[in-house]
Amino acid sequence: MPPQTPRVAVIGAGRVGSTLAQRLVEQHIADVVLLDVVAGLPQAIALDLMQAQGLENHAYTLTGTNDYADTAGADLVVITAGFPRRPGMSRGDLLASNTQIVAKAAREAIAHSPDAVLLIVTNPLDVMTYIAWQVTGLPPQRVIGMAGVLDSARLQYFIAQALGVAVADVQTMVLGGHGDLMLPLPRYCTVEGVPLTDLLTPEQIAPLVDHTRNAGAELVKLYQTGSAFYAPAAAITLMVRAMVQGRTRQLPAAAYLQGEYGIHDLFMGVPCRINGGGVEKVLELALNETELGALQASARFVRSMVEEAIGHSAPITTL
Ligand code: NAI
Ligand code: 2OP
Repeated sequence: MPPQTPRVAVIGAGRVGSTLAQRLVEQHIADVVLLDVVAGLPQAIALDLMQAQGLENHAYTLTGTNDYADTAGADLVVITAGFPRRPGMSRGDLLASNTQIVAKAAREAIAHSPDAVLLIVTNPLDVMTYIAWQVTGLPPQRVIGMAGVLDSARLQYFIAQALGVAVADVQTMVLGGHGDLMLPLPRYCTVEGVPLTDLLTPEQIAPLVDHTRNAGAELVKLYQTGSAFYAPAAAITLMVRAMVQGRTRQLPAAAYLQGEYGIHDLFMGVPCRINGGGVEKVLELALNETELGALQASARFVRSMVEEAIGHSAPITTL
């Protein structure tokens, strides 16, 4: 018997969810079930994309549904359901609207796929990952948030542009909460093994760091009606590919912290080893005092939002 095709449930058929679904089938990664609350929307996207199956030359299946029962047996559940930012909003401004959506989506999806790994995308990312973990009661290793791969890809692009080298030559690292206090780490960025800090001065690096922190807001301002989705979908695709193909990757992602970096009981962006079971290991870098202080400031902000989210909708188990 050939190995079984991986099955991924994508909850939320908006710009991120639909672009992700397209990439997963057209890049020969997984069969996808796409779910949304809007009647007809995921069905239309599935039909439209499947009519390109011959043109894109793949044998993967995409189905659309409004019923969680159809997502049963997924190896991986990706939650993209919820509101995106609009101009002038911070990711934190989405807290009230998205907490209920993510709680319901996570609970329902895991009820039908109890063995799945849960990958959260909805903003505010680190808080939504915590909420999804709480309401599902999954082991924390099986819940993970996507942001660091996206933020690191943005920094990689800006550095490559600044140096005039290929992006493939640049390795970057962005940790912390997915918000204004995210922590790009120039000391851990390299260009084919050469430290970035040997190639550019602090004055040259600072605008690249700022651009990375503001990249999401820059796109919200340009799009006017929503936020980035092509690069986010590419970042999710990279994580999904690693997980469903059982390959271990070392990537920044929102993982559950139990004392690492002095942070307890919080999901936040840190370097992790990720594989088919979720987070295998959180890596602790030897951060200097300034870097550690910035990471902990980001953690304090994420914690304040978690407390607000839980306060909003107490008790959490009834969300
Ligand atoms: P979108 O507005 O295009 O799509 C959201 C979809 O969720 C809509 O189709 C809507 O009908 C659906 N939805 C709403 N409530 C639902 C529910 N209860 N059950 C199922 N589906 C429901 O938004 P977009 O651009 O796809 O972004 C989705 C989320 O992902 C936003 O919160 C955004 O901020 C976040 N995001 C996070 C990124 C990250 O790096 N973590 C990157 C990009 C987006
Ligand atoms: C971004 O950074 C929307 O959080 C998302 O573009």
